[in-house]
Amino acid sequence: MKEQLSKVRELAYEALEAVRSSQELDLVRVKYLGKKGELTALLKQMGKLTAEERPIVGQLANEIRSQIEQMISQRLKALRAADLEERLSKEKIDVTLPGVRHKIGSKHPLTIVLEEVEEIFLGLGFSIAEGPEVELDYYNFEALNIPKNHPARDTQDTFYISETTLLRTQTSPVQIRVMETQTPPIRIIAPGRVYRSDAVDATHSPLFHQIEGLVIDKGITMGHLKGCLEAFAKRLYGDETKIRLRPHHFPFTEPSCEIDVSCFRCKGAGCGMCKGEGWIEILGGGMVHPKVLKTGGIDPEIYSGFAFGVGLERLTMFRFNIDDLRLFFENDIRFLSQF
Ligand code: DAH
Repeated sequence: MKEQLSKVRELAYEALEAVRSSQELDLVRVKYLGKKGELTALLKQMGKLTAEERPIVGQLANEIRSQIEQMISQRLKALRAADLEERLSKEKIDVTLPGVRHKIGSKHPLTIVLEEVEEIFLGLGFSIAEGPEVELDYYNFEALNIPKNHPARDTQDTFYISETTLLRTQTSPVQIRVMETQTPPIRIIAPGRVYRSDAVDATHSPLFHQIEGLVIDKGITMGHLKGCLEAFAKRLYGDETKIRLRPHHFPFTEPSCEIDVSCFRCKGAGCGMCKGEGWIEILGGGMVHPKVLKTGGIDPEIYSGFAFGVGLERLTMFRFNIDDLRLFFENDIRFLSQF
């Protein structure tokens, strides 16, 4: 029995020498010292020994157990130290290496100009309103005095969600939504995405952006419209900028006009940018039609107002001398990083 015990110790030592990880070490511990381990198995045979032999063998067994335990804790220490050593050498950092530059990007040109426009109108006492891009036919057309079969619907074909729901073709429906929820005096701009069933080319896109403006109060006249938009044009394109109003037609304004700014490149002399005209068209606007006021729940006998709509892509193209609208939506870093 004594030889058997020594043999167990020998085997356990050999196994412990060979382990390469703490998991392996654990397996060896269970194999020799566990409840079903080799040492325990031997001890179960103690009953066969004589009364004199028993204490001697018992003592030896205890010694061997504690020797193996000691060996285990030694090996564990060694394994941990080796582990740490390896991690330290692997995770060594060379602080003299150049760092990784984090690219934080830049603002999209449309965002830059939109923020400028918002800044200008906030300075003029306007606040910012929003409306849904998925809009009811009622707000997008009907309430703006564009009934079914009106020819204005032809130029604003869009994507229909259902008979009554569509992707808005203009930001003008926000006018009605604001009239329904606010009482005059009203002074808002409403920037946002609009959609049209147009083929993509250098000046068209099925998705683009507009900024709507609406002012309603007692005694608002075309003079207010002109003064407000002149201040806007001067702030955006420079103090020497002039504007001119040309008669036009929109179903929701009466009278209606288109608004040109003097060409900021040639100052009105005529150049490639303004196609020799000296003027560049940037806005549509007019006095809010009395029918539209009434539909919005505002009494046209008491109040009057002006409205305007401007295309953000167009403003931005002139602002940064961009000649192709597709560039805004292609997400080409070489283009975007210029702003
Ligand atoms: N919604 C018009 C369009 O998309 C632009 C416009 C014109 C808006 C005149 C207005 C306005 O508010 O008064 O062509």
